[in-house]
Amino acid sequence: MRELRTQVGIVGAGPAGLTLARLLERAGIESVVLENRDRDYVEHRIRAGVLEQRTVELLTEAGVAGRLHDEGIVHHGIELQFDGERHRIPLSELADGRTIVIYGQTEVVKDLIAARIESELPLLFEVGDVSVHEIDTEQPKIRFSHDGERLELECDVIAGCDGFHGVCRPSIPEGVLDSFSRDYPFGWLGILADVPPSNDELVYAHNEDGFALLSLRSPTLSRLYIQCEPDEDVDRWSDEQIWAALQKRLGVEGWTLHEGPILEKGVTGMRSFVVEPMQHGRLFLAGDAAHIVPPTGAKGLNLAMADVRVLAEALVHWYEAGEARLLELYSDTCLRRVWRAEHFSWWMTSMLHRIPGGDAFDLKLQLSQLRYVATSRDAAASLAENYVGLELE
Ligand code: FAD
Ligand code: PHB
Repeated sequence: MRELRTQVGIVGAGPAGLTLARLLERAGIESVVLENRDRDYVEHRIRAGVLEQRTVELLTEAGVAGRLHDEGIVHHGIELQFDGERHRIPLSELADGRTIVIYGQTEVVKDLIAARIESELPLLFEVGDVSVHEIDTEQPKIRFSHDGERLELECDVIAGCDGFHGVCRPSIPEGVLDSFSRDYPFGWLGILADVPPSNDELVYAHNEDGFALLSLRSPTLSRLYIQCEPDEDVDRWSDEQIWAALQKRLGVEGWTLHEGPILEKGVTGMRSFVVEPMQHGRLFLAGDAAHIVPPTGAKGLNLAMADVRVLAEALVHWYEAGEARLLELYSDTCLRRVWRAEHFSWWMTSMLHRIPGGDAFDLKLQLSQLRYVATSRDAAASLAENYVGLELE
């Protein structure tokens, strides 16, 4: 086995791992990023699309936001729809002028990969059999295969940025982590359609047939979702059926949902999940490796970015000042934000989806809550503050 060494070994080249690598690079700290998929797959995996202002600021500070500023679409509000009517939540007006930016996660990942390659720093795709070892010691190790060779990477610290199904979290000895979770009895069927978005702002729609969301990726690409079964077989839905469901759920008087060719479709399960603490020994978990939210609050990607910002600052402090205090606080610092986002995402999800097996009482409660948010400035301001992202550190 060939032996290598770095300061920070990063498992996973999603938004968390790539952003962490970039922040460390800017601070002169070495890292190696290991990704088990190929570059094309990672760059084209369609997921989130809403960036909080803080996420945009972080990417800007990291020097990878050129295209984001050119092509990202700034939004100042969202719309909630229920009982056949739309209600605008003026996010910026209610949340100190803060905005959100629509820019696909695929584009964030492409920009980060391009920057890493331009800097000629190690980012290995298609690594196999990744495992982490000796995390309780001062020289934790990552073993993996690459180009037919077996390698061992000795690190000062390992960052587990390998998503929910990664290997880092399960490598923490049994009994160390507490986990908290909730599964939802529904999923989202999402499409990317080659048609200009039919609305200027996102529409979150409550409907008796189930939730629907109108979003976008660019002035010419729409992103839309409908509530479906958690294990829905996407092939059971023809394009016509998907558009018919969207027309029914998003339709309001005097507005037209424009249809176009469906370029991509897929089903996402819905889950809330947190592990505590987000660290053991020299292994730090960040992003989906440590927590999952249902997508209704658009928080998953933003939480991942917030984690690595905290982790990068703590590592810089550790290397520069020789002080471990911020690293020791890493998990507690992140978990405060994580739990706020968990609550917000659960709340949005519970308010907007048709509850399978739910009764008229459930429906009345949802509609009352939606009406409250749509008509009370204070209730709307709470939604806005959470949606644009809270300052918690
Ligand atoms: P990931 O993006 O999951 O990155 C982890 C990386 O680690 C991946 O590249 C993976 O290939 C790699 N990896 C895994 N195992 C290994 C291993 N053993 N060795 C090496 N590398 C490994 N959020 C929203 O806000 N809105 C949405 O619409 C939305 N849709 C989503 C749809 C899906 C199907 C999923 C799974 C998530 C979605 N999310 C959404 C959540 C959001 O995309 C995530 O929160 C975000 O990707 C988290 O980034 P991350 O870097 O922590 O994890
Ligand atoms: C998206 O555009 O993919 C998107 C937007 C808002 C959400 C979830 C997903 O809440």
